[in-house]
Amino acid sequence: MPDPASPRFRVAIFVSGGGSNMEALIRAAEKGGLPRAEIALVICNRPDAGAVPRAQSHGIETAVIASKGAADQDFQASILSALIERRIDVICLAGYLKKVGSDIVQRYRGRILNIHPALLPRYGGAGMYGRFVHEAVLKAGDKESGCSVHLVDDEFDHGPVLAQRRVPVLTGDTPEGLAKRILEQEHQLYPQVLAQFCEQLVAAQRHPGEGRGPETSTPLDSGFRRNDG
Ligand code: GRF
Repeated sequence: MPDPASPRFRVAIFVSGGGSNMEALIRAAEKGGLPRAEIALVICNRPDAGAVPRAQSHGIETAVIASKGAADQDFQASILSALIERRIDVICLAGYLKKVGSDIVQRYRGRILNIHPALLPRYGGAGMYGRFVHEAVLKAGDKESGCSVHLVDDEFDHGPVLAQRRVPVLTGDTPEGLAKRILEQEHQLYPQVLAQFCEQLVAAQRHPGEGRGPETSTPLDSGFRRNDG
């Protein structure tokens, strides 16, 4: 755990794709917008993902741990070792398409965040990623969609929602157009939520047992107040 006098949490970002949310978090940290967080590591399960050179261009350590061709148990064990070796405190999933292994969820329970391009609990779960989400929203005729940051548990897109932003669906909207407008909101929401989350981890460590949220299960969760951001 970080120095109690001036705590800064070491954050790992998990990615599988282009990494625009990852870069939004890195940029926020570079600009001083994440005073309690240090982006210490990017873990990517796809060697060809655009997120890898993107992270490296910011001088962030990257670990490519390929999931393809590896037994899931070995893959998850390699990730857990990397997290422990680098003394990671908090994990942010940012377009990470693999399920987080149960050993990792257990060890980091209440300290794994994910961003999802819909208003959870709607349009989440296995298979609900990328354009599939936006296609489903348009097909249902919804008048609004948005993005959600939530805590990760053992099921896809399932843990408590910490904050959401709403985005109107426009007449004649396409999955691409809707995705683009939601992504712009994601880039603002995720750094804000991470900053607040880390502040509340500090508060929870200083005053253990106070301000516990009803939906959470460990002292490390306890300080987070919901935010309609
Ligand atoms: C984002 O829409 C995010 O909500 C979802 O995956 C997408 C990742 O995009 N989990 P990027 O790789 O951050 O550009």
